[in-house]
Amino acid sequence: MEAKDRIIVALDVSNLREVKSLVEQLAPYVGCFKIGLELISSIGGPQAAIYVHKLGGEVFYDGKFNDIPNTVAGAARAVKRMGVKMFNIHCLSGFEAMRRAREAVDTAIPVDETIMIGRKILHTNSLVLGVTILTSLDYQGLYSMDIVPRINYADFEEQKEAEHKQIQELVKNLALLAQDASLDGVVCSPKEISLLRRWCQPEFLLVTPGVRPEWAGKDDQKRVMNPAEAIKAGADYVVIGRPITNPPKEIGSPVEAIKRIITEIEEVK
Ligand code: C5P
Repeated sequence: MEAKDRIIVALDVSNLREVKSLVEQLAPYVGCFKIGLELISSIGGPQAAIYVHKLGGEVFYDGKFNDIPNTVAGAARAVKRMGVKMFNIHCLSGFEAMRRAREAVDTAIPVDETIMIGRKILHTNSLVLGVTILTSLDYQGLYSMDIVPRINYADFEEQKEAEHKQIQELVKNLALLAQDASLDGVVCSPKEISLLRRWCQPEFLLVTPGVRPEWAGKDDQKRVMNPAEAIKAGADYVVIGRPITNPPKEIGSPVEAIKRIITEIEEVK
């Protein structure tokens, strides 16, 4: 895969004007655009996806489905028919929901012609990704929902280490469950790449947000890795938002930011 095809730009905006401006500028330089809950809830998922496709971009539909198997399967069928390159579903919706999503994607009529009017078909099958544990949830957050047990070490460092191990174990088990349900991969944080590369099949895809070039601010991301490091560690795709959509002044435009990232990735290959 070329460096540019490994980059997914997060379109964390809320209107078509901003989508148009970003996709028009970046489509020649980037493989795929991520449509998330903000865009889905403000202008509608199908409208956003069709728009990106019309402008020549591919779509990661970050809908994070989490519901009963029948409903998840229905949603999976719908996004597959939009022709998205990839979409995701919470692993915590369970094995059966993931299995049904896979089945729905593999058996749905490839494309609904009424939706496809005016744009070329970019994908006839969509990649299905699992979301393991949201990285915004820390040990306390997981413990308060009874997802992890109480751990009590007197030593602070030992406590933190034990908590970290528990979360990694949980992430690993959920990723393996997703793999058993024949999902194509998972979304994971940079600090989980090496763990999951060790445990999952080589072809199991790892898609990683929380990525920051050295020249960009961290924003609200805490444990970051730069794009080249993430790919070297075993990520298949990196999701990058603000460093590209709103780059530091000294870097220049979104196009200049993406060109710089592509060069950085190519240098480590
Ligand atoms: O602007 P930034 O590069 O931080 O954007 C990262 C994108 O990846 C956002 O759309 C964010 O919602 C998403 N994401 C994340 N961390 C996760 C899961 C998703 O930053 N653990």
